[in-house]
Amino acid sequence: MEHKGVTVWFTGLSGAGKTTISQVVAQKLKDAGYKLEILDGDIVRTNLTKGLGFSKEDRDENIRRIGFVSNLLTRNGVIVIVSAISPYREVRDEVRGKIGNFVEVFVNAPLATCEERDVKGLYKKARSGEIKMFTGISDPYEPPLSPEIECRTDLEELDESVNKVLQGLKDLGYLA
Ligand code: PPS
Ligand code: MG
Repeated sequence: MEHKGVTVWFTGLSGAGKTTISQVVAQKLKDAGYKLEILDGDIVRTNLTKGLGFSKEDRDENIRRIGFVSNLLTRNGVIVIVSAISPYREVRDEVRGKIGNFVEVFVNAPLATCEERDVKGLYKKARSGEIKMFTGISDPYEPPLSPEIECRTDLEELDESVNKVLQGLKDLGYLA
């Protein structure tokens, strides 16, 4: 199936639900026949951006590399699903400018909710100081000012968030 390429960029705190929502969205689009790739921060950091840490410089480098690959795929008609905290607005906007077909999805849950979930036990370690520079605790997160799509994962069920993303992509003209 031939279709427009687009980068769908999920940004938000650790534990907000980026990976969870993006995986369901990706599976649905694949099932519908779209060409699709997933670039998830946790996985990309074991290969493409291996060795990078969590300083501002390293996070920005991580995002630029993910953005570079996303651009290559997007201009070849692929739907690229990115999920990365991407805490800095400036580099997110830089990537947006380079790619053009870019949809920002703000996966928004209050810090308290993410910390309560603490799926990976990282917040606990961040609070105790075992992990330094942890987003939301000891490192900044700059929320998007005008994301195309916003999911409130503390208020919505997973399928509501997924449908919001799919409907948003449709409204923006990226889906048939
Ligand atoms: S970034 O900021 O966009 O470069 O981060 P990303 O590539 O998405 O990687 C985030 C995942 O790394 C784990 N982790 C941390 N996150 C934030 N801050 C610190 N210090 C940190 N150390 C490890 C964590 O599992 C993140 O995954 P998610 O899926 O967001 O929970
Ligand atoms: Mg994740």
